[in-house]
Amino acid sequence: MAERDAAGAGEIEAERGSDSPDSDSDSENGGASGESEMDFLRHLLSRTLGLGSEKPEKVLDELTLDGVSRFMQSEKCRNVVCIVGAGISTSAGIPDFRSPGTGLYANLQSYNLPYPEAIFEINYFKQHPEPFFALARELYPGQFKPTVCHYFIRLLKEKGLLLRCYTQNIDTLERVAGLDQEDLVEAHGTFFTSHCLGSSCKKQYTLDWMKEKIFSTVTPKCDKCQSLVKPDIVFFGESLPPRFFTLMQSDFQKVDLLLIMGTSLQVQPFASLVSRVPTNTPRLLINKEKTGQSDPFMSLMGLSTGMDFDSEKAYRDVAWLGECDEGCTALAELLGWKNELEELVKKEHSAIDAKSGQAGEAGRSPSPPPAGATASPSPPPAKPGSSPQKESDAGSKAE
Ligand code: OAD
Ligand code: ZN
Repeated sequence: MAERDAAGAGEIEAERGSDSPDSDSDSENGGASGESEMDFLRHLLSRTLGLGSEKPEKVLDELTLDGVSRFMQSEKCRNVVCIVGAGISTSAGIPDFRSPGTGLYANLQSYNLPYPEAIFEINYFKQHPEPFFALARELYPGQFKPTVCHYFIRLLKEKGLLLRCYTQNIDTLERVAGLDQEDLVEAHGTFFTSHCLGSSCKKQYTLDWMKEKIFSTVTPKCDKCQSLVKPDIVFFGESLPPRFFTLMQSDFQKVDLLLIMGTSLQVQPFASLVSRVPTNTPRLLINKEKTGQSDPFMSLMGLSTGMDFDSEKAYRDVAWLGECDEGCTALAELLGWKNELEELVKKEHSAIDAKSGQAGEAGRSPSPPPAGATASPSPPPAKPGSSPQKESDAGSKAE
């Protein structure tokens, strides 16, 4: 992966691992107050060094999906936070980033990039915007159809359990699945709107405008000042939206269950969310592989806040390994929601098919958006989920 140098520090970063809480990024991003950060650090120290009296309470009767489902049906579970990534959309036909062979970063050879992530780096983009727009054209979905996993999150909302869904994806499938703006934190931005990069202009453009440029292979330039126009997705080297930092402060104090789905947890500051839940909050990972585990070195030092599924000290983390859709179906079954979930998916997919049928379009031509939604989705050109930094630069994009 792309090595970024120190100059990139302060923005979204990838591959930093999930052990770093990335406190800098928060304060630089204007969401987190210094006091909250101090609390966070105090808790971290108290937890990991055994300072203070905090002893985690074990709230799951068993570290399995069944254990989680029983907890979800208890009075204790009122607020579920989902944190999700590209893996929840692969069954909709949108590639993820890092899966060997099929992930986007393994398939960018034709773009002649210095390294794969360059395609989502703001500085590279300003100099060489063409690869990004070519990729956007290539990946622009003909239809936006959320997956079983997206509809499972919608069911959480309908059951009154969803506190928030933090997504790294820019495909807007959460919105199409029926989540409202209020339910969501689109941590890596959205393709729905675009802005001129001219610092004194910043004119906003619509998805239709951008789509037309993308498909006419014209590099989008501002009609007012001729600067480059970029979709509002967060690139490496940019800041996450203030909403991410603001809501994180309150949501992660209230969360009773953290549900992590379809993410490698390789990009900061998003990945650090797993470390922000209270000490006794259970964390369920539904993913093809285990992610977010403690860095062995940090663990040795006793400074780990990553996931612990397997050690003898494991007390709250559960990994369900497999397809997100199957994991959600299995959990729905244990909760007694399986029929409801299947019905919802069927109904919503039929509505989307009917709409796209009316639009008379198939495939990915410049056309029509997605279905459904209030907000029409946008194209996922690669879901840059966050524009966080790659592991070496840290999180705050911005500055
Ligand atoms: P990744 O591609 O890094 O990780 C996807 C994870 O989902 C991997 O662990 C896969 O094994 C898993 N996975 C894929 N398909 C799955 C399926 N059907 N069922 C279950 N698991 C599945 O994607 P993200 O973690 O979302 O940012 O990547 C984070 C950020 O890195 C993106 O937002 C993007 C990227 O660089 C930017 O571009 C700024
Ligand atoms: Zn302009």
